[in-house]
Amino acid sequence: MKLTKRLQALANMAKDAERIFDIGCDHGILSVFFALQGKKVIASDLREAPLNSAKALAKKYQVEEKIAFYLCDGIPKIEKKENDFFILAGMGAHTILHILEENIEGTFVIQSNNDLPYLREEMQKKGYQIIEEKVVFDKKWYVFIKFQVGDAIYTKEDFAYGPFLKKDKEYMTYLYEKKKKIYERSKQEQQLEEIKTIQKLIEKCSG
Ligand SMILES: C[S@@+](CC[C@H](N)C(=O)[O-])C[C@H]1O[C@@H](n2cnc3c(N)ncnc32)[C@H](O)[C@@H]1O
Repeated sequence: MKLTKRLQALANMAKDAERIFDIGCDHGILSVFFALQGKKVIASDLREAPLNSAKALAKKYQVEEKIAFYLCDGIPKIEKKENDFFILAGMGAHTILHILEENIEGTFVIQSNNDLPYLREEMQKKGYQIIEEKVVFDKKWYVFIKFQVGDAIYTKEDFAYGPFLKKDKEYMTYLYEKKKKIYERSKQEQQLEEIKTIQKLIEKCSG
């Protein structure tokens, strides 16, 4: 089964998982991919139509018995294990944080469509820390953040750019160019300050 670069990045970040919760599974591609690898999969979606397409895909690949499907808001209320993996991808930060209202132990692989600084800060408030970050270019840049329960302390820059990603020169250069374009249109002082901060971080990346 061929995955897009974005889905492959998610799969790579959960490769050590025994049991995976694919929350907001939609098409079910990731759920089926993991089931084909012999992993236990729990797939959930808020809406019936996507869940049905996920079920149809599982049937096509003959793994429908290996995936437990739930029509529900967020994480199904079943017994959790400490080493469970939860994938929450392709949703907005507010939806992701709404889903994670309940404090659960385990590993969370998150790809939010927006508001990454807010997401990082709110996750810290909920008692999670970042243990890995990846970025992938698949027509546009996608950021993947892995969280586990923990009490790491972060700076403003960690929240803004990511404690790991702020050291990624290619990604930071992309952010620099993006902010520069925004500043050229808006001429806002705050944008200029951000550009300067990013520039300093890029200089640090170069060693
Ligand atoms: C854009 S799709 C992303 C699908 C897949 N996770 C991916 O990354 O390709 C978002 C899916 O999340 C589902 N969704 C949105 N809010 C949800 C919630 N609170 N609980 C469960 N599923 C939700 C939507 O119905 C939709 O199928």
